[in-house]
Amino acid sequence: MLVLGIESSCDETGVALVESQGGATPLLRAHALHSQIAMHQAYGGVVPELASRDHIRRVLPLAQTVFDEAGRHLAEVDVVAYTRGPGLAGALLVGAGVACALGAALGKPVLGVHHLEGHLLSPFLSADPPEFPFVALLVSGGHTQLMRVDGVGRYEILGETIDDAAGEAFDKSAKLMGLPYPGGPWLAKLAEQGDPAAFRLPRPLLHSGDLDFSFAGLKTAVMTQAKKLGEELEARKADLAASTQAAIVEVLLKKSLAALDATGMSRLVVAGGVGANRDLRRQLDAACAKRGVRVHYPELHLCTDNGAMIAMAAAMRLQAGMEKASARYAFDVKPRWPLDALAAA
Ligand code: KG4
Ligand code: ZN
Repeated sequence: MLVLGIESSCDETGVALVESQGGATPLLRAHALHSQIAMHQAYGGVVPELASRDHIRRVLPLAQTVFDEAGRHLAEVDVVAYTRGPGLAGALLVGAGVACALGAALGKPVLGVHHLEGHLLSPFLSADPPEFPFVALLVSGGHTQLMRVDGVGRYEILGETIDDAAGEAFDKSAKLMGLPYPGGPWLAKLAEQGDPAAFRLPRPLLHSGDLDFSFAGLKTAVMTQAKKLGEELEARKADLAASTQAAIVEVLLKKSLAALDATGMSRLVVAGGVGANRDLRRQLDAACAKRGVRVHYPELHLCTDNGAMIAMAAAMRLQAGMEKASARYAFDVKPRWPLDALAAA
């Protein structure tokens, strides 16, 4: 079964072809991505209307690239999958509209996919995919969740952020330091030259005894520290970046270990944009190796938004019999859509 996947929930347009055969893990045939980061950078964040318009411009040329690369033809597609939510309403509508129009034109069924399920299953696109069950740490720009994953569509949220997401903490702190959008990777780069112990920043909810997160206070602490430094900030920026990253990473690390303890599981999957963070990976690898826990990550280029994870999630849902693709082409999108609502559906 050949699945065409379209991602357009935020500021990347992604298109991919994933193929499944029998019960084996589906395989990525080709994927193409256009990032709008350069376009939004001038505004310091995503401008939703510009995002929607750019998705319209990019999606069909990207699809053509994917078919050319895979040596396949549109007519061979069995299912057209798209991100149904969560995300920016206008941006989601572009992917949903194009997917349903293609489905209707080809007479092929369509399937709306949950963006976070895409991230969650993205490690299955790697050469060494994980096995169920596992604990998942989902860390993106909009979400921070620890989940128990027993199979496709079998997700239980163990803990989540009560305010800002980890990616947001990276991005907002970076903005305070005058770094470009999106700040996460810039802050991480700057942190490499700094001292993580230079400033003592709070580790919110570290000892709360549950698996929830809170990052809003950390941002305030970074702001207070930046103000205190005044003119000295420029010279101490790398230290502040390193200290901020250390605080975020320590909380993510300790809570992930607590989730492994609570579930008794010996496998951890890390997904979402912040999963690209090298310091987080280094520390998780070291701590998990000591405990005999295997850690799986998506390949670096598939950590942030892409079409491959959407095609993969669709292929895995169909393969698991969780869902049937539909030949009804009226579509809606779900800008807000909790992942556990999907599991219960
Ligand atoms: O998963 P994603 O591409 O989009 C959402 O679904 O939100 O995640 C984007 C987030 C941004 O906050 C970005 O700053 C962060 O991931 N990010 C990083 C790194 N690369 C991306 N944060 C820290 N270190 C990185 N290397
Ligand atoms: Zn995402």
